[in-house]
Parts: sequence; C-alpha cells; structure tokens
Amino acid sequence: MRHVSKSFAGVKALEEVRLEVAAGEVHALMGENGAGKSTLMKILGGLHLPDTGEIRFQGQRIRLRSPHDALRLGIAMIQQELLPFRDLTVAANIGMGREATRWGWLDHGTMNREATRLLARLNTPIEPTRRMGDLSVAEMQTVEIVKALAHEASLIIMDEPSTALSEREVAALFDVIRDLQQRGVAVIYISHKMDEIFRIADTITVLRDGRQVATRPAAELDERELIRLMVGREPTLRVAAPGTPGATLLEVRGLTRPGRFRDVSFSLRRGEILGVGGLMGAGRTELANAICGLAPAPTGEIRVAGKRVRIASPADALKAGIALVSEDRKRFGLVPLMSVQQNLTLSSLRTRFIDRRAETAVADAQIRKFSLKVADRKQPVVNLSGGNQQKVVIAKALLTEPEILILDEPTRGIDVGAKAEIHALISRLARSGKAILLVSSELPELLALSDRLLVMRQGTLTAELNPLHTSQEEIMNLAMPL
Ligand SMILES: Nc1ncnc2c1ncn2[C@@H]1O[C@H](COP(=O)(O)OP(=O)(O)OP(=O)(O)O)[C@@H](O)[C@H]1O
Ligand SMILES: [Mg+2]
Repeated sequence: MRHVSKSFAGVKALEEVRLEVAAGEVHALMGENGAGKSTLMKILGGLHLPDTGEIRFQGQRIRLRSPHDALRLGIAMIQQELLPFRDLTVAANIGMGREATRWGWLDHGTMNREATRLLARLNTPIEPTRRMGDLSVAEMQTVEIVKALAHEASLIIMDEPSTALSEREVAALFDVIRDLQQRGVAVIYISHKMDEIFRIADTITVLRDGRQVATRPAAELDERELIRLMVGREPTLRVAAPGTPGATLLEVRGLTRPGRFRDVSFSLRRGEILGVGGLMGAGRTELANAICGLAPAPTGEIRVAGKRVRIASPADALKAGIALVSEDRKRFGLVPLMSVQQNLTLSSLRTRFIDRRAETAVADAQIRKFSLKVADRKQPVVNLSGGNQQKVVIAKALLTEPEILILDEPTRGIDVGAKAEIHALISRLARSGKAILLVSSELPELLALSDRLLVMRQGTLTAELNPLHTSQEEIMNLAMPL
C-alpha cells in the first residue's frame, strides 16, 4: 500500500501511509486507539475506498470495491467489531459467501462436515450446528478466524483477534498462524498486547495519528521503544495507591445458576476493588451478569448495604445502585447506530422527556473527561475506533452514578496509554468510595489494581488471595481446570 490517505467527514484518519507485507510474514500493526489501524485494514479488506494512494497485491495494481473483491483475490479480513449472522448456525457463518460456488445452496451435511474439519484445526470444540448468537465472544472470534481459513486466503488480516481469547486459545491461534506462515500465507496482526506481538510478529509497523512512523523487524525493538514510537513520548506507568475499604456494601450468598456457577459467596466493601481471575468459561461473566440482572440466578441471595434485594432485570440492578460494564459491548453496552451522545446518556437520563441541552452538556463533559476521540458527539458510535467505543461504555455506566460498579474486562482492546488512564480512573473511583468488582483475564491488571483477589474455576470460587502475596503462577494454577 502506498500513499494511502483517507478522511471521514473532514477528520483525517490516514495520511500518506505506506505498508509492505511479504508472503509468509507475520506483520504487526501497532498504534494507539484511533491511530488508523482498522481504517487501513478496512481499505485492504475492500470495506473502505481510499481517498488517494494505491494498492499492489502479488505484483498487480488492484482496486477493491467490496470485501468480495478482496476475498476473490485472496485477502480475508477478520474485523475488530464482529458482525456475525446471529440467527444462523456456526457452519452457515463459516460457509457464508462460498455456499453457492462449492456446496450448492442448502447442503447442510457438507457444510457441517467442512466446519467441523476447520474448527478442529483451531483446536476448539464448537458444535457447527449451534446458533451463532448463543456463542460467547471468544467462540465467535474463533468462528471468524475459521471463516477466513476456509477461504484459503494468501493474506489474512486479523484485527484484534485475541481480545476475547483465553491464553490457551491464543496459543492455538498462534499455532495456526505459524502453520499458515509455513505455507506462505501472510498475516497482518493487530493487537494492543505487547507480549503477543513479540511472540508472533516478524515485522512491526507503527501508526500514530494516521501516519506511519516506523516499520522495523520485531527483533530490533523492545517494549519500551515500541511504546515510545506509538505515543511519541517516554511512557509513564502509573501504579495505583491502595485505598482503605469501608463498610460492606455488597454481599452475595450461595448464588447459583445451574451449569454456569454454583454456591458463590463473597462480600465487597465500599472503596474496595475486588478482582476476579479465572480462565475463559470459568463462569466469571455469568456471575457478573447475574448480579446485574442480565441473567439472574435462581438460587442464592444478594444484599446491598445489608438489605436483601431482588434482581430480576438490569433495571432492578440500576435501582440497587449496581452498574455493569459488559465484556460484550455489541450486545449489552452500546447501540451501534445511535450517536455517541445518545449512547452516553442512554441509561442515566431516566425521565421521559429528555432535556436536549442537558444531554449535550453531559455528553460533552464525558467526551472531555475520557479524552474520547470523536469528530462530533452526533457521530454514530459504530464509527469510533474500537478502544474509543470501550471508553464510551465505561463513561455511560458511570453516568448512572452507581455505588457498585462491575467491570467485566474493562480494558479489552484499549491501548497502553488509555489503559493507564482507565486504571487510574478505576482506583480513583474506589478511593471515592465506590465498590468495584473487577473481572479481568489480564493478570498484571488484576494484581496491580485489586485489594483482594478471587479466583474462579469451573463455576466455583476456589481461592481468595492477597495480591501483594501472590503471583501470576499461583493464580494460573488455581484457575486451571482439575
Ligand atoms: N466510518 C467512520 N466514520 C467516521 N470516522 C471514522 C470512521 N471509521 C473510523 N473513523 C475515525 O478514524 C480514526 C481512526 O480510527 P480506526 O478505527 O482506524 O483506529 P484504530 O487504530 O483501529 O483504533 P483502535 O485501537 O481503538 O481500534 C478515528 O478517529 C475514528 O474515529
Ligand atoms: Mg481498530
């Protein structure tokens, strides 16, 4: 790609970008939220037309007018914001776009067999007949990857494919990537996770504010240098000062949702950050969703400030002062086509008649406070970069002024700088007296922020640890299925 530029309604997303990727190479694309990574890849995937610039693929100058054009040439893209067909089966999603040419329209048997074969390569037990909408985020990601493999592409773009994957799933994905690499397939890999980049990338290109600032062999870079290239200054890594927790605010006793988690009991105090670690599928998200009324638990009790509360819906939770930042922002966090402003104020403005001026003022304040990178508060939220969408979800939850905040993977897809900001924000919230339940798959995040740390395994709490006296290894050991 050469001299590629792209603007959206006056906002320059890319300026004169150059990117060269060799066959069989794993090329990482790095940069802060909003740097232009996804936009560049959407151009290569046929989803956007560039304003200027040219693309050459296998020596030929190409013009991509649609994802279909790109796929036909052998360029497959796994988008950051997944948009699967929720009502179709896994197999149908994998076969999407190929059914007419290879399988004929409704050959479910072949489709299922093909899907099973491909899923096996990723080492993931997902039934091809399951409905897409019933899968977890991790499983949906996996299906997207399998779908790209199915097209036998010679260039596969993965835009933050691992954000929702467990360590084991990431290892399986990397095996697949190395396997593709052996066969001469090039992979462009976007991730904010440094350790992944250094494990898998041959070459790293850094974008900053829509410009390409560096392309170097990964072996010549270290983490510090990479961060410096991304943010344009020396990184400052903040560490949260521990707070002094107050009275017990939330008590959970014997909470059980059959098949998901059982007999979960813990308490959470004002000003406390209680971390919850565990592997994907351990039941952490289900627990969070139960306390927030998204998927209530039939057995057990929840007390807020000593009083028993019945939480049968998100509205009940909100009334009890509990807000959730969901790991699945597409399903529970945001309305993609509504504006940034409407999304921000969606759950906090409870009156029937909305005061537009107040709404605008509130939205502007949040945009400033969270340094949201938006062109306009009326911009549909779906047009924001992934990390900025995540910031909107957090800002929105805080506007409901909850006493108890449940954060499920709050920094997923967030760049290093913004992550430090969100970490600082979380500890500030705790110090101001909020009770925070922090579910995270990132052990350094849990260790740095939590006052106490719970570990969940196969639906039950297995340990309570003091973050100052434990290690990543101990947590992993307690989290591993028996
Ligand atoms: N369809 C669109 N309409 C308007 N602006 C857009 C659109 N798509 C992207 N942008 C803007 O272009 C800029 C680059 O966004 P992009 O999604 O490429 O960032 P990114 O590097 O992928 O960030 P992240 O790490 O958060 O995913 C951002 O300012 C974003 O708001
Ligand atoms: Mg992106």
